[in-house]
Amino acid sequence: MNHFLDIHKTDPADLRGIIDSARAMKGTRAGRPRGTRDDERPLEGRTVALIFEKPSTRTRVSFDVGVRQMGGETMVLSGADMQLGHGETIADTARVMSRYVDLIMIRTFDESVLIDMSEFSDVPVINGLTDRTHPCQIMADVMTFEEHRGPIAGKKVVWSGDGNNVCSSFLHAAAQFGFDLTFTGPAQLDPEEEFVGLARKAGRKITIERDPYKAVEGADLVVTDTWVSMHDSQSSKERRHNMLRPYQVNEELMRHAKPDALFMHCLPAHREEEVTSAVMDGPRSVIFDEAENRLHAQKAIMRWCLGV
Ligand code: CP
Ligand code: NVA
Repeated sequence: MNHFLDIHKTDPADLRGIIDSARAMKGTRAGRPRGTRDDERPLEGRTVALIFEKPSTRTRVSFDVGVRQMGGETMVLSGADMQLGHGETIADTARVMSRYVDLIMIRTFDESVLIDMSEFSDVPVINGLTDRTHPCQIMADVMTFEEHRGPIAGKKVVWSGDGNNVCSSFLHAAAQFGFDLTFTGPAQLDPEEEFVGLARKAGRKITIERDPYKAVEGADLVVTDTWVSMHDSQSSKERRHNMLRPYQVNEELMRHAKPDALFMHCLPAHREEEVTSAVMDGPRSVIFDEAENRLHAQKAIMRWCLGV
């Protein structure tokens, strides 16, 4: 069964196939009203459950719309309203859910919930973000980079800020799509060693550079994310902000990257914290293309999961 759990757990040829399929589907919809269904409706007669244990705008709406465009039905569920939030085990929830629906997407806290869900489900499971990774986002980001700049293989990506879940999926993508990644941020918030090691083992150049200006030299893409993720305690906010302030992506930092370097952020952003509005709304920012491409990339992921 094709679960989409993480980028490093998915075959590189399949990942490339998903990007190709996303681009093709996006192309066929160009200029059409957003609400219309696709000509091809591979999800006709199928139901997809979208489970959220954390807030979401993009993931929720893009999965929901994507399923509808492909002719399927959705069910958006909040973890807190399910028995899952009241002590029913993940294993039992997975076994029950897979008697009703054809595909499950889950956004949760601990990765073990996602893993248990996939082990006990009879239908494919998609990772819609855990504390540790966010693979759907980075599939959309790879697609976005390539739309603007061609193949991402061999390029230099710089992550500035917190080495968080989104950064981890970028490291997985570096390994699978063949690009180099430099992390710049405080040592306390370094990316997971295991994932740095994994990308290095795949032959990629992964650099840790504390000086953000040196880090972005020669960058084709500069990426950042919120300084306080949904799984981080609010009490750590001030400490994290103090540590991360030197890593804000602003126009001065972008001037040290390649002149045609792109800027990405998975959103939601905290303007004037991790990134300035001047960069977010500037000519090199592709943040809203990233958001749009969540729709197309996830449609391709769902088709891959279901083999349709
Ligand atoms: N980027 C992203 O996953 O956004 P949401 O939290 O709004 O789903
Ligand atoms: N790192 C962020 C990403 C949100 C899409 C979080 O986990 O809150």
